[in-house]
Amino acid sequence: MIRILPLPVRSQFLRSLLRVSGLALALCSLLLAPCCSHALENGLARTPPMGWNSWNRFGCKNVNESVVRAAADAMVSSGMKSAGYQYIVIDDCWQIGRDAAGNILADPEKYPHGIKALADYVHSKGLKFGIYTDAGVKTCAGRPGSLGHEYQDAAQYARWGVDFVKEDWCNTVSGQSSEASYTVMRNALAATGRPIVFSICEWGSTKPWLWAGPIGNMWRATGDIQDCWDCKRPWGGNGVLQILDLMDPIYSYSGPGHWNDADMLEVGNGGMTDAEYQAHFSLWALFSAPLMAGNDMAHMTDATREILLNKEVIGVDQDPMGIQGHRVQKDGDLEVWCKQLGDGGRAVVLLNRGDKPATITANWTAIGYPSSLKAKVRDLWLHQDLASRAGSYAAQVPGKAAVMVRITP
Ligand code: GLA
Repeated sequence: MIRILPLPVRSQFLRSLLRVSGLALALCSLLLAPCCSHALENGLARTPPMGWNSWNRFGCKNVNESVVRAAADAMVSSGMKSAGYQYIVIDDCWQIGRDAAGNILADPEKYPHGIKALADYVHSKGLKFGIYTDAGVKTCAGRPGSLGHEYQDAAQYARWGVDFVKEDWCNTVSGQSSEASYTVMRNALAATGRPIVFSICEWGSTKPWLWAGPIGNMWRATGDIQDCWDCKRPWGGNGVLQILDLMDPIYSYSGPGHWNDADMLEVGNGGMTDAEYQAHFSLWALFSAPLMAGNDMAHMTDATREILLNKEVIGVDQDPMGIQGHRVQKDGDLEVWCKQLGDGGRAVVLLNRGDKPATITANWTAIGYPSSLKAKVRDLWLHQDLASRAGSYAAQVPGKAAVMVRITP
């Protein structure tokens, strides 16, 4: 039996309210803004951040300044920069200790030219530079964390030219509050005066979607992604399907400047088929999730490049209205996911979680349209306009794969 799940009405409602009483609403929000803002007002990440992060592919041992430079080079030469990818982020293990004054020190063997030189190199390519820290005493890989050094570290990052900070949640002290800790780092970053995207990473453990809107530009909603379709790890790691189920119920908390983060991409890392990676990328775009490539961009297959560089799918992710899509139909392994777009259209993903090919039908009523409405349908992976239709759109979807279309009335 097909279950039709409710479509978000929040934005439609807000838009009609704006139309009817635009002036009153504007005055109201002006009065309320200083006390009740629900999004971090640093002007950054108005669309989900796009970039690359070293962790998924290079982990702790294999990341160093040559890898990061090569990533910056490849982001430009592969066309990813032109497609919108911007941030080059070094994850864990760049730090080695602190000097007598408590200043954070980079590993001189892995980063012989220092972090400032690396940031300058990334900037010289027209890209932005990001770095990783942790709200506890040590990072997850045991390097120095920022607890008690937040202002000192933020000032150092700003001197180096950092544009993005990811702060993890390992090795915190007993009773440490996530909301209070991330607020300290938000304030420390703001005090530098440099625009720095703030990426909170506490894995969804204290429901950051409930409190992190005014604190971070994005927050991880789930435990670490694994390079697999359907796999739950005992320590909290998740395959793509597990992440979908965790992202679905929190769709209403995401928006411009404050995004639910579904974790860095695994596209191109070898653990899944290209069809699975295509589905993974389609759904991250439907979620308005940050698109942080996690592969070796300097050595990509053509299939990986086609996925990461699909500008039509990226366009769905970067839709300026910034609404997170969610599941609107479920029939066992066969699902329909929908995202409302700024032009009144819908991005729709027909997802087959199971092994066998199947026909999946998206009903107009499930995506918030009257059945009689005639709409254009474009396949975003085939890059083809299909015939206009009313009522529904059906497609054959192979096992463990997705079809993604854009529907425009
Ligand atoms: C945690 C984070 C990962 C990565 C590692 C680094 O597991 O969730 O994304 O940053 O730490 O140690």
